[in-house]
Amino acid sequence: MNKCKIAVLVSGGGTNLQALIDAEKSGIIKSGKIELVISNKENAYALERATKADIKTAVVKKTTQEEFEAKIIALLEENNIQLIVLAGFMCILSENFTSRYPKKIINVHPSLIPSFCGAGFYGLKVHEAALGYGVKVTGATVHFVNEIPDGGEIIMQKAVYIKDGDTPEILQKRVMEEAEWKILPEAVEFVSNNTVTTEE
Ligand code: GAR
Repeated sequence: MNKCKIAVLVSGGGTNLQALIDAEKSGIIKSGKIELVISNKENAYALERATKADIKTAVVKKTTQEEFEAKIIALLEENNIQLIVLAGFMCILSENFTSRYPKKIINVHPSLIPSFCGAGFYGLKVHEAALGYGVKVTGATVHFVNEIPDGGEIIMQKAVYIKDGDTPEILQKRVMEEAEWKILPEAVEFVSNNTVTTEE
């Protein structure tokens, strides 16, 4: 069976990318192969993780939205990419981009959507908002990406308890360890498997 060709879009440290690389090695992801990592930041540590794993990398800096997206689309087409994974990618993609790939873009978000999500909620800000509100449970969500930021169909979620003394940084780490690094690889396998079985 052919594997689903995956591109991962990143902006920073890339621990979710690492979870995907490890899951491919361990066989949790067996229906997909990470072919390309694209970063909008040239100094993102995620690029080093990709290079260490022998994955092709590209940097596309944000200029105008149109030009930025056109460059990403060209890379995706050159590499025959079938599934796009946003893993800590801190740029919003327009409807012009998302409508080209219905149910073929997935994102991991560090809260239980529909809480603490949408424009302006990214990275540590999400955990600051959860702690500020005083919720006792948060978590992570993997969802399809459409034109509404964090508004596409939910694929998987996992809850994480808040503990006394949590800071945004401590909570971010627990949400990653207990939720994101688990459900993102599982969701990628699920969608990759669907892609290869329906497109062949
Ligand atoms: C992760 O917590 C991810 O869920 C979040 O940024 C972090 C990236 O970490 N993404 C968003 O907030 C997107 N709205 P990583 O670079 O180590 O994977």
